[in-house]
Amino acid sequence: MRGLFEDENPAGKEEIVGGAFLLRAFALAREAALLAAVEAIAKVSPFRHMITPGGFRMSVAMTNCGGLGWITDRRGYRYDAIDPETGRKWPAMPPEFSQLAVEAAGEAGFSGFHADACLINRYAPGTRLTLHQDKNEQDYTAPIVSVSLGVPATFLFGGIERGDKARRILVTHGDVVVWGGPARLRYHGIAPLKAAQHPKLGEYRINLTFRKAG
Ligand code: SIN
Ligand code: FE2
Repeated sequence: MRGLFEDENPAGKEEIVGGAFLLRAFALAREAALLAAVEAIAKVSPFRHMITPGGFRMSVAMTNCGGLGWITDRRGYRYDAIDPETGRKWPAMPPEFSQLAVEAAGEAGFSGFHADACLINRYAPGTRLTLHQDKNEQDYTAPIVSVSLGVPATFLFGGIERGDKARRILVTHGDVVVWGGPARLRYHGIAPLKAAQHPKLGEYRINLTFRKAG
């Protein structure tokens, strides 16, 4: 048992704060299809370490699929239909991705979520993602759907102000976190990844973040 609270609702849905939910193991039954799709996407648009506007190389390796991909470089954070590494469109969103995103959002009470962007994050041991808000999207009425695969991580879920205390939530292979409505602009991040081995992903954690960006 590894819920937010021991002995409480061992499988299924836990509300983290109003508008934010942890759906434990929601994606687990689809792992084979999801991992095959990530591999196919990365063959076309490889994982890379992007540069922040401040000139730092991100420790998270990223790629995207869907009509829009999230990118960062010296010019800023934004979405683009073109992968700057390949000069071509990002790979299309696989139907199993879109399906998972709409179902997970629905389970959290956000019906009709049609993601047009999927950012794929890859974490190696020691990789972290500092607290940030997802705010490069046009429309904050749509939620964020975040799928964890591979080695476990500590998801940090904070408040509306950067300095607000963050909850620490263990997310493991197949878990999905959805936040929207009053929680849409909450700060969140990932604590430095602890070294571990996963049968399918080795030392890595992969995260799929679905958004309605355009
Ligand atoms: C993100 O906020 O873009 C990713 C969060 C995660 O890796 O779970
Ligand atoms: Fe984020």
